[in-house]
Amino acid sequence: MARPSDLDALTATLPRLEPGHVWLVGAGPGDPGYLTLHAVSALSQADVIVHDALVDERIAALARPGARLEPAGKRGHQPSIAQDTISTRLVALAREGRRVVRLKGGDPFMFGRAGEEMLALAEAGIPFRVISGVTAGLAAAASALIAPTLRGINHAVIFATGHGAGDAPPVDWAALAATGQPLVIYMGIHQLAAVAADLVAGGLGPDTPAAVIASATLPEERVLVSTLERIADAVRKAGLGAPAMVIIGAVVAMRARLGGGDGP
Ligand SMILES: C[S@@+](CC[C@H](N)C(=O)[O-])C[C@H]1O[C@@H](n2cnc3c(N)ncnc32)[C@H](O)[C@@H]1O
Repeated sequence: MARPSDLDALTATLPRLEPGHVWLVGAGPGDPGYLTLHAVSALSQADVIVHDALVDERIAALARPGARLEPAGKRGHQPSIAQDTISTRLVALAREGRRVVRLKGGDPFMFGRAGEEMLALAEAGIPFRVISGVTAGLAAAASALIAPTLRGINHAVIFATGHGAGDAPPVDWAALAATGQPLVIYMGIHQLAAVAADLVAGGLGPDTPAAVIASATLPEERVLVSTLERIADAVRKAGLGAPAMVIIGAVVAMRARLGGGDGP
């Protein structure tokens, strides 16, 4: 195990967050243990941290004394700050000469709107960097003992959003079903009955194993395993809520061989 002084020495070699720069930082799935050293370093340098609703307060507590925390929560169907407002705010803070961290749950690129923020920063001539984080889809799979790739079972994994977002084209669930590859679905718990029905209509067997992992990596984590046909009902009966990850496909079945139950 590294001594604290070794970690300090390593952290000192990481890039510096300069005044007027913005870093888009992934905070991981919730458990602070999944933070990267880059993320910890960014938090310790920032003057202002503009953070998502899903970022754990223990992570926000790693901000340096005197740093300002600005919530920019975007949470499912609840009213949230418009993306343009957040991007404009990042540009304004950078122009004031602040060291800015935009802290996002999971990985900034996985349904995290980092693309829009990068474009806004680039157009404004603001230097920026993206710090990857552990995405909730993979962390949830690890917590539930579900390997999203299994030799002999699949050769691809599909990360999808179940939340028909804004002006994006609707998800073609039948086309995804036709690939026969496992699906890891973000923001899918509220539409699970409709998504499951579309997948079955698209040709996926009703007995296809399906899992929901709620609050993955957090003390309140719950895992529920069922079939595509029954999962929405089971989630409703068990009272599972957001944030939750849905994993569908034959890869889910291995959990039982590893001693995982059907939960929750
Ligand atoms: C807007 S997306 C952002 C995803 C994030 N960028 C990532 O890489 O994990 C938010 C969704 O991620 C999923 N999520 C985030 N944290 C989670 C957790 N701890 N457990 C289960 N799902 C989670 C939920 O589906 C939630 O609705």
